[in-house]
Amino acid sequence: MSELILGIETSCDETAAAVIENGCRILSNVVASQAEMHAKYGGVFPEVASREHVLKIIPVIHEALGAAKVTWKDLSAIAVTHGPGLAGSLLVGVNAAKGIALGQNLPLLGTNHLEGHIYANWLDAGLPYIEPEMQDVFPIVALVASGGHSSLVLMRGHGEYVELGHTIDDAAGEAFDKIARLLKLGYPGGPAIQRAAEHGDAAAFKLPRAQTKRAYDFSFSGLKTAVLNLVKKLGDEEIPVNDIAASAQAAIVDMLVEKTQLAVEEHDAKYVLLAGGVAANKMLREEMKTRASRPVLFPPPKLCVDNASMIAAAAWRHYRAGEKSAWDLDVVPNLKLA
Ligand code: KG4
Ligand code: ZN
Repeated sequence: MSELILGIETSCDETAAAVIENGCRILSNVVASQAEMHAKYGGVFPEVASREHVLKIIPVIHEALGAAKVTWKDLSAIAVTHGPGLAGSLLVGVNAAKGIALGQNLPLLGTNHLEGHIYANWLDAGLPYIEPEMQDVFPIVALVASGGHSSLVLMRGHGEYVELGHTIDDAAGEAFDKIARLLKLGYPGGPAIQRAAEHGDAAAFKLPRAQTKRAYDFSFSGLKTAVLNLVKKLGDEEIPVNDIAASAQAAIVDMLVEKTQLAVEEHDAKYVLLAGGVAANKMLREEMKTRASRPVLFPPPKLCVDNASMIAAAAWRHYRAGEKSAWDLDVVPNLKLA
């Protein structure tokens, strides 16, 4: 049997819609990025983001239905990100989803963006979503690292999350973005640092790896300050941007991999799972595969960054359990996973 969920995602600066079959097969995945528009501000400008979502949301949804070759009548449910994210951005997606669900008499599923990032690993060629094999993958240690969030999560089963630790200051993606800004590499910073680092020497500068009180917490603000001081010290000299980018990327990756591996050992995880925009980082993927003592799962790069397929994938399990959201579903800008 084929059941289709329309996923909608507007938590930050991508307006996205996707049609997913049985929680794992992508029939369409449309993402309208505003990155270029925000680049001139060096980060996401919230009001500009909401207004863009208002303009794009209906065309993007129509495009997703068209690309999947389906009509409203073929859908089983509507899933939408209701947090975490920017309130004004989330509101656009949630209201569009409510309108469609009401008009088409379909269940509405308010979905957690972070659960979406995790479930991107179940899409297409990723983890099988067929009982009972899908239970064999737990426990999983998941590293969820995006622009607004960084944490280590123990998953004992579907939807069962225990947060082992989180960042005590900047998110990992935020660290990439801020360091890229210091190096005048543009926004978003992660891909820009990755590109510059390919031409740089990761051993050129010794940058700090922060110690935290709790074993599974992260801290990236000291690294950012170290890069700032380095750039200031070099002053009028020609800044070796590629070497600094490579050294900073190595420091971030080192911290992420070390703590993840520690958690894998302690909790005897079967798999390591990477999720969120930073999971697109090539060095992180390679280092994790080299240093983790268990197999490492990660989605293809375009499913690591914000998209709506992952929202429909996460919603699928809730839909099958008969869950649905009430019509007073609200946005929750600081929604937690656990
Ligand atoms: O998950 P995401 O698309 O949006 C949020 O939910 O925040 O993550 C965006 C973050 C940005 O900080 C971006 O710089 C980072 O992910 N990112 C990367 C890479 N691609 C995106 N960081 C490192 N390497 C990449 N290749
Ligand atoms: Zn995200």
